Amino acid sequence: MRKNIVAGNWKMNKTLDEGLQLTSEVVNMVRDEVNSEVQVVLAPPFIHITSVQKLASEQANVLVSAQNCYHEESGAYTGEVSAAMIKSTGAEYVIIGHSERREYFNESDEQLATKVDLALANDLIPIFCCGESLEIRESGSHFDFVTQQVTNSLFHLSEESFNKIVIAYEPIWAIGTGKTASSEQAQEMHASIRAHVANQYRNDVAAHLSILYGGSCKPSNAPELFACADVDGGLIGGASLNARDFVDIAKSF
Ligand code: 13P
Repeated sequence: MRKNIVAGNWKMNKTLDEGLQLTSEVVNMVRDEVNSEVQVVLAPPFIHITSVQKLASEQANVLVSAQNCYHEESGAYTGEVSAAMIKSTGAEYVIIGHSERREYFNESDEQLATKVDLALANDLIPIFCCGESLEIRESGSHFDFVTQQVTNSLFHLSEESFNKIVIAYEPIWAIGTGKTASSEQAQEMHASIRAHVANQYRNDVAAHLSILYGGSCKPSNAPELFACADVDGGLIGGASLNARDFVDIAKSF
């Protein structure tokens, strides 16, 4: 069946020393406290990935992710990082299409589709992010909007490729705001995404897909969110910067 995953997106936080300190604390706590079936993923800034990966490799269920990759294979793109480079560090995941990348870096659905292809071609697992703004939710078109994001960037994939990806539903209005989606709101959107996938592929592809929730997820609300039938874990921002909080979330299944 599908995996339970708790991923920490550090965003643009932590110096190298701070990041290594956080990683060792997480590794030690996960070893002692977290069910080995739960995959714990750390997504530090690019520059820390190699060092974080070395520490994380001490614990089999602590894996490393990048927060982004570029939509070209290689070449004259100063400042960018390719999927192949990420893979060469030992990282196993890459977050693609986070709402902050869509908003501040104008990433389009088409570019994100290319990034997903490059990640898969380099044997990385994409964590594909989708989610609506408050305006869209209030207009009542949030299910259609998220369905369209998923269709536009993922439905060109073969069934075999689709089986390798992870989706994260992150309503923009809940990110960094302290305003979490209720477990009912998360469940109904996750169920809608899964039904949409079942419609396009097959029921067993949809049943195999891990769908994570992100947006002000904390130790206090994680148990209720993770208890929902279609919520398979979390993509955690702020609370992943503190080892105790992050690991408490990973213990919430
Ligand atoms: P917060 O947990 O800080 O709301 O961030 C969620 C997020 O954007 C994770 O990618």
